[in-house]
This record gives sequence, C-alpha cells and structure tokens, in this order.
Amino acid sequence: MVESYQELLDEILIDEETLQARIKELGQEVSADYEGKELLMICILRGGVLFLTDLMRELTIPHAIDFMAVSSYGAGARTSSGEVRITLDLTTSITGRNVLLVEDIIDSGNTIASVLELLRTRHPKSLRVCTLLDKAVRREADVPIDYRGFKIPDKFVFGYGLDLDEYYRNLPFIGVVKPEKYLDPS
Ligand code: IMP
Ligand code: MG
Repeated sequence: MVESYQELLDEILIDEETLQARIKELGQEVSADYEGKELLMICILRGGVLFLTDLMRELTIPHAIDFMAVSSYGAGARTSSGEVRITLDLTTSITGRNVLLVEDIIDSGNTIASVLELLRTRHPKSLRVCTLLDKAVRREADVPIDYRGFKIPDKFVFGYGLDLDEYYRNLPFIGVVKPEKYLDPS
C-alpha cells in the first residue's frame, strides 16, 4: 500500500494559490519575450508536466510543445550524476527554432546541463531555461536560468509534478517530505 500524502507531509512549502499566481506572472513574462517569435516549449518528463500545462494556459502567444525523457547514469531516483541518457527523444526538429526548456526543479543542475549540451548540437535559434523550482544551494553544474518560479531551500519536496518514488505528482501544492520518510536509496 502506498501511504497517503498526509503521512509524508512535513509542511506545505508553496501553496496552490501562490504557485498559480507565480505561474501567471511567468506566463506574462514569456509571452512578452516571445511576442512575434515562433516558440517551442520542451518538457522533460515526467516532473515538469503539470507546470508545463499550467504555464501554457497563461501564454497569450502561439506555441508548440514537445517532450523528452532522460535518465541519469549510476544514480538513485533522488540524486543525479553528470551523465544522462535519452530514453525518449523529441519527435520534432529544433533546428532554427526558439526553444524553451520547461523543468520542474533544478537541483545539482547536472540533468539540465547535459540536456542543454545535447540540444545545442541540434542548432536551435535560441535555447532558454524555465524552471519552477531552483534548489540553488545544491548546484554543481553551471546552468543559466532564464525564468525561475521560486528559489527553495535544500529539502526534499513533492507534489505538483514532483514525485516521491513516482507517487504524489497530482498534489496541487509543493510539500516538504518529513525527513524520517526521506531515506536516500543509495
Ligand atoms: P538535478 O540533475 O540534480 O538538477 O536533478 C533534477 C531532477 O532530480 C529533477 O528533475 C527531479 O526529478 C529530481 N529532484 C531533485 N530534487 C527533487 C526534490 O526535492 N523532489 C523531487 N524530485 C527531485
Ligand atoms: Mg523525479
């Protein structure tokens, strides 16, 4: 049996109203910046899905979306190493296009750094990063963040796309996992 989220929740870090208000602001920023340009938003599965779909609804400009999935080598589900492997590639070409990578959280930055490196080899016209959450204190790779929802402390969070062992992505808020429930699998 999977525990109910209440048993894992230490505190709500960002409530639904605060999340949605910030996403609205980000949507306005992105809309203004890409006005008159062709935009392709790429979401890295699976954590960024809720953020992507809410952000899309705040955009006032035409845009396309695509998805990719990656897995990191030699790491548990809660940390990532330097190297990533593509497990699901894009179905569209990004060459000559304005690409915005939409991510749930940037932690060490290793995942996004590898993805950026790979996407650059395909020669997009522009390549920017939009992340809902930024765990800046844990950064290892130097990642340029163009749009940031919230800076958060070094705590393991779940909800709103983010999972704890693949569950609880549906929660409408970002919650902190009780430290005793968060045991590193490695
Ligand atoms: P990075 O390569 O260390 O930046 O890791 C990014 C990925 O790690 C995210 O896309 C998440 O899947 C996962 N991750 C990092 N921190 C958390 C967290 O606090 N909760 C849930 N997933 C996390
Ligand atoms: Mg994950």
